[in-house]
Amino acid sequence: MSEKNRQWLLRARPVGMLKESDFELKSSPVPTPGDGQALVRTRWLAFEPAMRGWMEDRPNYIPPVAIGEVMRGMSVGEVVESRLEGLAPGDLVTGLTGWQEFALVDGGARKLPEGTDPTAALSVLGITGITAYFGLLDIGQPKEGDVVVVSGAAGATGSVVGQIAKRKGCRVVGVAGGAEKCAWLTKQAHFDAAIDYKNEDVGARLSELCPGGIDVFFDNVGGEVLDEALARIARGARIVICGSISRYNLEEAPPGPRNYYNIVAQRGRMEGFVVLDFVHRYAEATAELGKWVEEGSIVWEVDVQKGFENAPKTLQRLYTGANFGKQLLEL
Ligand SMILES: NC(=O)c1ccc[n+]([C@@H]2O[C@H](COP(=O)([O-])OP(=O)(O)OC[C@H]3O[C@@H](n4cnc5c(N)ncnc54)[C@H](OP(=O)(O)O)[C@@H]3O)[C@@H](O)[C@H]2O)c1
Repeated sequence: MSEKNRQWLLRARPVGMLKESDFELKSSPVPTPGDGQALVRTRWLAFEPAMRGWMEDRPNYIPPVAIGEVMRGMSVGEVVESRLEGLAPGDLVTGLTGWQEFALVDGGARKLPEGTDPTAALSVLGITGITAYFGLLDIGQPKEGDVVVVSGAAGATGSVVGQIAKRKGCRVVGVAGGAEKCAWLTKQAHFDAAIDYKNEDVGARLSELCPGGIDVFFDNVGGEVLDEALARIARGARIVICGSISRYNLEEAPPGPRNYYNIVAQRGRMEGFVVLDFVHRYAEATAELGKWVEEGSIVWEVDVQKGFENAPKTLQRLYTGANFGKQLLEL
């Protein structure tokens, strides 16, 4: 193949807000599949807030991306050439193939069932949907009538969390940045209420909307919002620590939440989780989420940017809230 394979490599460990110059664009020859491999042309890349942590050399739930290595990331790609049983040219596959235009896959890549929307496979039926599903149901354990508060509520994970909580008969309050995202939460995603943390007093609004306290707080954000929620938990509350995006780009981690002692007073439980803990049960989540998608009873947004050269800029969007829905890049 005379074409080149453009790749974004990690050039430097980020300090503070990640920069485009932390990555470097290189070209290499398109690889040739060996026995048991297929060559895939990347069509869509998915972006995760956790990528900022994968770029750092510190203890984490997976090893850091090495300097000079292709940036790690999920994709959906189209098979170009196959020497792998079960995959033929034209098939769409999803896997952790990284920020590159071509990749070799083996048995680890998953073929998308005929008719699957690739953008759904990377969002509501992908890692973020699955995270929402297990994080809320297994860790948060919501009961009918519970008050559930979700931060990062208009995002790929948070929006699905709130909608599952509604299905379980909970009263759901979302916290998100900006009037547009808040209006989407109540009008399209049927949350009971939304708080615009950029323009409203989060503590005062939580007190007003959750007078009996918060039974489940699903946190994607950390920082001030977590603190305000902790101050208002109900007896026996479950605090699900899914993420903490407000601190991912800080040079120094701030001291812990001020109101943590309320977990003692209210006999609450605060628990972190990583979606990989549930890998053996992914099919259970995607079957249920897939049913809701098919019947149109769950809404989900994707934010599709274009052009492989824009991968670093596309990742940056997550940390400013420029994305509305699951952040994807179409190549
Ligand atoms: N535990 C796991 O296994 C797991 C798996 C997947 C994701 N996660 C976590 O889930 C969270 C959401 O991820 P996602 O992929 O669904 O992304 P997302 O919510 O679609 O996008 C990130 C959103 O975070 C908000 N944000 C960015 N900077 C912020 C700040 N400084 N303060 C408050 N909010 C900020 C922005 O929304 P606003 O416009 O509303 O500010 C932005 O749109 C992240 O914390 C991620 O690390 C965890």
